[in-house]
Amino acid sequence: MKPPSSPLLDEADLAPDTSGQPASARYGDVYASRAGALGQARAVYLQGCGLLDAPARWAGRDRFTVLETGFGLGVNFLATWAAWRADPSRCARLDYVSLELHPVRAADLLRHAPPELQPLAAELAAHWPPPVRGLHRIELGDARVHLLLAFGDATDLAPRLKLAADALYLDGFAPARNPALWTPELFRALARLTRPGARAASYTVAHAVQKGLSQAGFELALQPGWGGKQQRLQATFNPVWKRTRHTLPEPWPAALPRHAVVIGAGLAGAACAHALARSGWTVDVLEAGSHPARGGSAMPAGLAHLQPSADDNLLSRLTRAGMAALRRALPPDAADLAQFVPATLTPADAAEARRMQDWRRTVQLPPEMAQWTADGWQVDSAILANQAVCAAWLASPRISLRCGVQIARLQHDGASWNVLDAAGNSLARAPQIVLATALQTPHLLAASGLIPGPEWLPLHALRGQAQALPARFWPALRNLRQPWMGSGYVLRLPEAAVRQLQGADHADVETDWLLIGATFETGDQPLTPEQAWQHNRAGLSALTTSPPRPDHAGALRHFAGVRAASTDRLPYCGPLADLAPLRAEPQRAAGKQLHELPRLPGLAVCAGLGSRGLTLAPLLAETLVAGFEGHPLPLETDLADALDPARVALRRLRHGAAS
Ligand SMILES: Cc1cc2nc3c(=O)[nH]c(=O)nc-3n(C[C@H](O)[C@H](O)[C@H](O)COP(=O)(O)OP(=O)(O)OC[C@H]3O[C@@H](n4cnc5c(N)ncnc54)[C@H](O)[C@@H]3O)c2cc1C
Ligand SMILES: C[S@@+](CC[C@H](N)C(=O)[O-])C[C@H]1O[C@@H](n2cnc3c(N)ncnc32)[C@H](O)[C@@H]1O
Repeated sequence: MKPPSSPLLDEADLAPDTSGQPASARYGDVYASRAGALGQARAVYLQGCGLLDAPARWAGRDRFTVLETGFGLGVNFLATWAAWRADPSRCARLDYVSLELHPVRAADLLRHAPPELQPLAAELAAHWPPPVRGLHRIELGDARVHLLLAFGDATDLAPRLKLAADALYLDGFAPARNPALWTPELFRALARLTRPGARAASYTVAHAVQKGLSQAGFELALQPGWGGKQQRLQATFNPVWKRTRHTLPEPWPAALPRHAVVIGAGLAGAACAHALARSGWTVDVLEAGSHPARGGSAMPAGLAHLQPSADDNLLSRLTRAGMAALRRALPPDAADLAQFVPATLTPADAAEARRMQDWRRTVQLPPEMAQWTADGWQVDSAILANQAVCAAWLASPRISLRCGVQIARLQHDGASWNVLDAAGNSLARAPQIVLATALQTPHLLAASGLIPGPEWLPLHALRGQAQALPARFWPALRNLRQPWMGSGYVLRLPEAAVRQLQGADHADVETDWLLIGATFETGDQPLTPEQAWQHNRAGLSALTTSPPRPDHAGALRHFAGVRAASTDRLPYCGPLADLAPLRAEPQRAAGKQLHELPRLPGLAVCAGLGSRGLTLAPLLAETLVAGFEGHPLPLETDLADALDPARVALRRLRHGAAS
């Protein structure tokens, strides 16, 4: 057994029962009716939730969301996906969210999938995530079927999901053997995620289940059972109380076009534009520089990586989700702009050395995510060619890019936002704006009168410098096989970054480059390029004490950029609080929770990515788009809250009220 906080979960302990049915030794129960898993899936769950009716409950709709307790061998999911595929009047998008504490292995999914569902099972198995606590998003069926696997204890996770379910499959093991999945507390948490009128279904009609569901607002209608059972449970969510604290995510209003203006074409803006375009939006990207990736993103390359910690803290969870989102966001043929190769993580100082030693005891992750080796910690990482990655994300017929335009202010005029330059000329308008303007974000908001001053979304500048050097000039690093991080870092540039260094005429014959970084400069006195190089070289002293060739200086290329960092070092990602009504009643406002704050319609920020833009940009972009669309949130709400830009406003309002 793992400790309760371990991100690595105990996997399912599948064993056939006496009749050869897949069963769990831990729970002493079979995964599905002995009369057949597929038959049960159809008769109990699909039928119970009205998905085999003509027309099915998803017919003609934009989207339909199923929420399940107990993913198990995925037969309910595969049967639902198959029924959806076979229905010409199916909804455009199917979301399926399933809670699972003991994931099975991919091979088990395949072994136990009913023969007619094998092709779907194979597609699922190819994307199957490791048994790690948290949310895992999988896009299937040409990205029209979205599976969100919530790995962990349902009681702990359900209150941290955000979604609006149209159907609820209750499929734990028998209540007597698996009581945790049938508690009134869990039913209440599920009810908070369920749309009024949604149907729920289960194979069990145990008295406690009926009672718990009725108390949570479900009207029961027991039906004749299946596979030897007298009855099955069917219910409709019809709460008599009004929803107060927990609002369901709303779909993008049908009256408004899916059109956004993204301001800023760095990693954050490019990732947001890409995620929006993938979701069917038309996107105008406006950028002050002459090209994308000119601001803080102007390094030739950088490293995205997972950050382990002893207690699996917020950053560890975010970087894990970030690496998964990065893989999803990159085009399939991305080898020249992204190389996924584990990075060696070594301590920057004595305190970190002690922490990393501790991790040997505390960090429990699959080896492909983090493992201790003779060379130190090896963590999941990717070297990315910044400009090529931004270009790939912006290369969509739905995205139009305008460079060389400086936005001065935003103005809301009823249904849409007007984007203005300093002379007051309108540069674009759209019902949705994403500000991905790094350090400029608070100033733009303040100039638009949307926050009283930049301190309501504080960002500070962390200047950084890095150098590229042809590998042959540093013989000791010439055979560097994987990125190395300590108090500095060194990595080998991917092909696309080398092409960019070579320039248009490819006059430079160097093909093998190292990138060595990076400084963190806070004061007014930036380091000179020479000082920065000395600093970055010194950062590699734990890797090699052997110097570069004496004639290396002429071959060095220097790069400088500015990172935008928030005070708590976490990005700002989400809609902004509408401060006018809050500041009018500060005492009331101070008593509110984040999710209760009113928001400015159609205005979101994605900024303050600090030194983790490559690791986090695609995750932030996915989270923003899920919020706009009202799709199931791909992050637990505690993580989303930690990124919410309104956290600063709330802190200030509370502080103001207290003083
Ligand atoms: C030396 C260095 C090394 C780094 N190494 C790594 C690394 O290894 N891994 C990693 O993950 N991260 C790294 N980073 C950090 C990473 O580069 C940033 O997190 C990332 O670039 C932030 O992206 P962004 O899009 O938020 O900001 P930016 O790239 O700064 O983009 C903001 C864009 O908005 C535009 N803009 C601003 N105001 C306006 C306006 N008013 N009108 C129009 N356009 C506007 C700007 O021109 C700019 O292009 C490094 C940073 C530096 C400086
Ligand atoms: C009957 S099986 C589900 C079968 C599945 N729906 C299918 O179609 O194959 C029950 C599942 O609930 C999971 N489970 C049990 N307790 C849980 C808990 N507290 N939180 C989340 N999942 C749990 C089990 O690991 C098991 O996979």
